[in-house]
Amino acid sequence: MTDRTPPLDLSESRQLLGRAVRVDATQAYSGYVLDRDRLVDGEYPLYGERASGAYVWDVDGNRYVDFILAYGTVILGHADPVVSEAVVREIRDGFAITLRKKVQVELAELLVSVVPNADRVFLLKSGSDATSAAVRLSRAYTGRERVIRWGYNGWHDWCAGRPAGVPETAQRTVSTFRYNDLASLEQEFRRHPGEVACLLMMPFEEEPPAEGFLTAAAELAREHGALFVLDEMRSGFRVALGGAQERYEVQADIATFSKAMANGYPISAVVGREEVMRTVGDVHIGSTFHVNGAEMAGAVATVTRLRDSDALKNIEELGAALQRGMAEQIGRSGLDAHVLGVPQMPFMRFRHTDDRVRRNIQDAFYTETTRRGVLFHPNHHWYINAAMTHDDIETALDATAAGFRAAEIAAHHD
Ligand SMILES: Cc1ncc(COP(=O)(O)O)c(C=O)c1O
Repeated sequence: MTDRTPPLDLSESRQLLGRAVRVDATQAYSGYVLDRDRLVDGEYPLYGERASGAYVWDVDGNRYVDFILAYGTVILGHADPVVSEAVVREIRDGFAITLRKKVQVELAELLVSVVPNADRVFLLKSGSDATSAAVRLSRAYTGRERVIRWGYNGWHDWCAGRPAGVPETAQRTVSTFRYNDLASLEQEFRRHPGEVACLLMMPFEEEPPAEGFLTAAAELAREHGALFVLDEMRSGFRVALGGAQERYEVQADIATFSKAMANGYPISAVVGREEVMRTVGDVHIGSTFHVNGAEMAGAVATVTRLRDSDALKNIEELGAALQRGMAEQIGRSGLDAHVLGVPQMPFMRFRHTDDRVRRNIQDAFYTETTRRGVLFHPNHHWYINAAMTHDDIETALDATAAGFRAAEIAAHHD
């Protein structure tokens, strides 16, 4: 006997997928259709209807506590009324009027006041916009071409995760290194003396930074005449109001932000030291939509709330409670599973020598947690938002407990 919950009704999601594969390139070529990349081979919603606070409802009416949060953008909670109101006000006033809006100055002033080492701000719309602008600025500032980078930095030619469609020359000047391994970073610098424009990196992903690692990496970059650029897309306005620079007491020449900055509205920022940012005048960075104000209003409302409330403290506490609870559950199980990440971006991975068995274990776990109304991503770390409560974490822990039981059964079936 197991206590597995009954299957979810996902019929409307499946029906929409049936229509989408005929017309929607993002769906037709995605893993949902090609079995190899399916997120969860079991039950997992595909289409959402609406979201509020900590919850998302799929098109079949199933409700989930949402730990994906549009890949970390929704920090205050879905459809946060204060942010929505600020955005709607800007929309009602006309947000695309060619002329810059007052809110642009307000946002720049706000960012300079909360982000360490930020003298000036360049606002853009997406994360890839911002990291690509940071690379261009670094190259123009130093007169060098080479980039050492680490982590996911976007999809443009210099950092695309797949080689198809990317000119070989675009990636020839870019290399990477092993995270938390200063020797491997040093080796990269030594291989290209006098050539590196910047070290551009996420401050961490699933593995937190070793004590002093980020500071040592920044020093190494400066010793070699390169800029140190922190890609704070995920860490910014999350691990501290001033991001990883504040949290880990490291200083960046340039930092890039997006995601949590506007609670889901599309906006990004390149911020940096005066001397470096002055190079903006020499380079080409542009977009038709850069001056649109709606998402800027969303960013002002979001960052102000994060600054003036306990939201970030609560997020950290809730994330830590989830990590603690899951680690205890794993300890009681016979599973080779590991809780990872910082509390604000928790994650868990299963290990098994046979990848097919590991995949079955993972599918059983995530099918069960999904059935129990908790939306976790199987391959990407999760996020916590400020609208979640301890009750939501309890719901999540009930679901993970059942998920681990289902995973153990799957492990014994092979
Ligand atoms: C650390 C990091 N950098 C850059 C990006 C690229 O941002 P976008 O997808 O908005 O282009 C992402 C997106 O997930 C990211 O997580």
